[in-house]
Amino acid sequence: MRAILRERNFPVDEIRFFGSSRSAGQFLDWNGEQIEIEDAATADFSGIDIALASSGATSSKVLAPRLASAGAIVIDNSSAWRMDPDVPLVVPEVNEHALRSIRKGIVANPNCTTMAAMPVMKPLHLAAGLRSMVVSTYQAVSGAGREGVDELANELEATKDFDVRVLTFDGSAFPIDEGFKFPATIAHNVIPIAGSIIDDGSLETGEEKKLRDESRKILEIPNLLVDGTCVRVPIFTGHSLSITASFEREIEPEEATKLLLDAPGVVVHDMPTPRLVAGKDPTYVGRIRRAETVSNGLSLFLSGDNLRKGAALNAIQIAEAWMKLR
Ligand SMILES: NC(=O)c1ccc[n+]([C@@H]2O[C@H](COP(=O)([O-])OP(=O)(O)OC[C@H]3O[C@@H](n4cnc5c(N)ncnc54)[C@H](OP(=O)(O)O)[C@@H]3O)[C@@H](O)[C@H]2O)c1
Repeated sequence: MRAILRERNFPVDEIRFFGSSRSAGQFLDWNGEQIEIEDAATADFSGIDIALASSGATSSKVLAPRLASAGAIVIDNSSAWRMDPDVPLVVPEVNEHALRSIRKGIVANPNCTTMAAMPVMKPLHLAAGLRSMVVSTYQAVSGAGREGVDELANELEATKDFDVRVLTFDGSAFPIDEGFKFPATIAHNVIPIAGSIIDDGSLETGEEKKLRDESRKILEIPNLLVDGTCVRVPIFTGHSLSITASFEREIEPEEATKLLLDAPGVVVHDMPTPRLVAGKDPTYVGRIRRAETVSNGLSLFLSGDNLRKGAALNAIQIAEAWMKLR
């Protein structure tokens, strides 16, 4: 977020940093100045215009209302507020108009996987009426935060001298216990459970539910059907999605490609990959072709940087859009 605020010359008069008691008292650089991190639990939030919050859902449920009642517009990265009907869930290229009503002083930033797909699916929906999506995801470990990144890095380090055949035959190279972020070894592996299984009998993960619920809210299609399988893959940055979508009317790959060439926040590319998109702002989309198994079907593949557009960049774009509308 700090890097993107600087890159975009965001008009910051004064910046304050907050964390938990774990990092309070440490310093973070802002344009050469060392700024002390304050403990969010005890800080006085008065005087803040815009708060960019990214501390997780549990703490956000407490912190976001405190920040909002002190007068800030809170742009929150966590899942705590996304489905609240009084909280807009915004991707500025897609539904900026939702910022006209911010009843609780809180704006939610979508889930990083859903986010990558929205700028692509919106123009296709406007043209042909999106009915359903079958989605398989390929999600980077950084989507699970710093601990996810550390876990892959540690496992790769531990396996650097490994005979890969041993890993292939012995899936239990690392014992999985309470201290691990992922439910199986992530190095040299693919885990078909990203997030955790939710306790509602559906056997879906939280990520799969967010993909459906948040797509419906952002695209404003309450009855959109979404079947997702969210998969964690051993890469650091960049979430990818393979999508087969069904539309109300026929839409040819050529027409879809033309629409996407003009879509804000989207780049059409022959072969989107996480490595290609890491550090870049737009969603890259390609492999656009007819799908036979659904009516008026299209299949496509897209990749986006989950830490930029999927999190920090979109939060800052929301702040920019909000300032423009004020
Ligand atoms: N990573 C992604 O791709 C992504 C994308 C979209 C949304 N999100 C969401 O964004 C949120 C943060 O994710 P992340 O990946 O950035 O996690 P992270 O790397 O674990 O960072 C969490 C940050 O929150 C701070 N924090 C934790 N508890 C706090 C508390 N009680 N009060 C104040 N600060 C607290 C931590 O500071 P301390 O060091 O002080 O603990 C740390 O700086 C999550 O809700 C996540 O779902 C993440």
